[in-house]
Amino acid sequence: MENLHHAIEDARSRFVAANPMSESADKAAARYLPGGNTRTVLHFDPFPLTLVGGDGAEVTDLDGHRYVDFVGEYSAALFGHSNAVIKAAIHEALEGGITMGAPTRYERELAGLLCERFPSLDQVRFCNSGTEANLMALCTARVVTGREKILAFNDAYHGGVVKFLGGQSALNVPFDFVLADYNDIEGTSAVIDGVGKELAAVIIEPVLGAGGNIQGNRQFLNMLRQKTEEVGALLIFDEVKTARLGPAGIQGMLDFNPDLTTLGKFISGGMPTGAFGGSAEIMSHYDPRRKGALAHAGTFNNNVCSMAAGCAGMRDVYTAARAAEFFDWSEAFRLSLNAMFSAKSVPLYANGMGSMIALHFSREPTKRPSDITAGCRKLRPLLHIELLLDGVSICSRGDLFLSLPMTDEHLAKARQALEKFADRYKPLIEETLAAHA
Ligand SMILES: Cc1ncc(COP(=O)(O)O)c(C=O)c1O
Repeated sequence: MENLHHAIEDARSRFVAANPMSESADKAAARYLPGGNTRTVLHFDPFPLTLVGGDGAEVTDLDGHRYVDFVGEYSAALFGHSNAVIKAAIHEALEGGITMGAPTRYERELAGLLCERFPSLDQVRFCNSGTEANLMALCTARVVTGREKILAFNDAYHGGVVKFLGGQSALNVPFDFVLADYNDIEGTSAVIDGVGKELAAVIIEPVLGAGGNIQGNRQFLNMLRQKTEEVGALLIFDEVKTARLGPAGIQGMLDFNPDLTTLGKFISGGMPTGAFGGSAEIMSHYDPRRKGALAHAGTFNNNVCSMAAGCAGMRDVYTAARAAEFFDWSEAFRLSLNAMFSAKSVPLYANGMGSMIALHFSREPTKRPSDITAGCRKLRPLLHIELLLDGVSICSRGDLFLSLPMTDEHLAKARQALEKFADRYKPLIEETLAAHA
């Protein structure tokens, strides 16, 4: 462990030397923001870079370095940072009036675009974030079923107050959550049997995102569909991230029909957003013309910037055809990384699917969160800082999100940086993994 510690310290000291302006901006920010931060996931040691610009698939920091941006705003920046179509739509919306307090044409059009695209959506409602979308879906399930218990998965992330990374979070909403292990068919099936008719909903990311971009096993998802029908619970697909995978997310890919789906991130072109939806029967609870309807509120649910940007993005940029092509191109990149790691016999693996990748220090795909070793977690800071020093920005936990303006040259730059990292650190990676086996 000495060697890993020294390698990380050495990388960090080169990072500090290269980023004096970001360092002092970070220190100054701590005066009014706790730890200089207003979004925990963006913090890393020794300090996060302050970004001053973004265009296309690249970002620039305060010290003038330029990076290929694989953070991709944790998947929300699918369109990159300066898409002309999105910008024009936002400008047009602003010209028409900013906050008007009435329905506008934009949310109506965006609702149609989403419902026509995602097979399980007859109707949707908009909100302001993926977290809010999941809270609304969970509350809907509780009301519709008249039950309290919600099955979620260890290491799942559904938002800042619905997260199970390493177990329950102290900040979680006080719902009656029951936890099972992702992709564990027998264990989960037994949990559902145990809860039985008290179960309101099962909420699942069909690719476990923050938990390591782990693909949901088809049989596992089928079991959830069957069991929830048996006990009369709703199955909620959190496609906040996965909706970008192919024309209609995982539900489109697998021809799967969840009861409720939640969306967010990219669906408003990079502007703040969230949506939840499902069958007309379930969503009719929100029809204000109906007696006893549920009142769904939110001042900014239909804000014109998000809605207009979403329309332009889904209608004119991320068409079904573009989404299919982008998935194939991204998946080829992911597979090419794995071919490179395997040829070098270095224990690195690009987990995930298409444009949602997580790098794991392992020779095998990660199929369950429990496959992620302590050694893998300990090596992440080294990978993150070394890639930054090479002009490739990835999430500190090892995620990469591809974006539409990326070119083959951007991908080649990332591949080269990873190749250099693998060549330089292979013995250290092997030693660290062995020490924590
Ligand atoms: C799968 C998933 N669900 C929900 C959320 C929460 O979305 P937001 O950050 O917009 O609240 C996220 C955010 O990363 C997510 O990855």
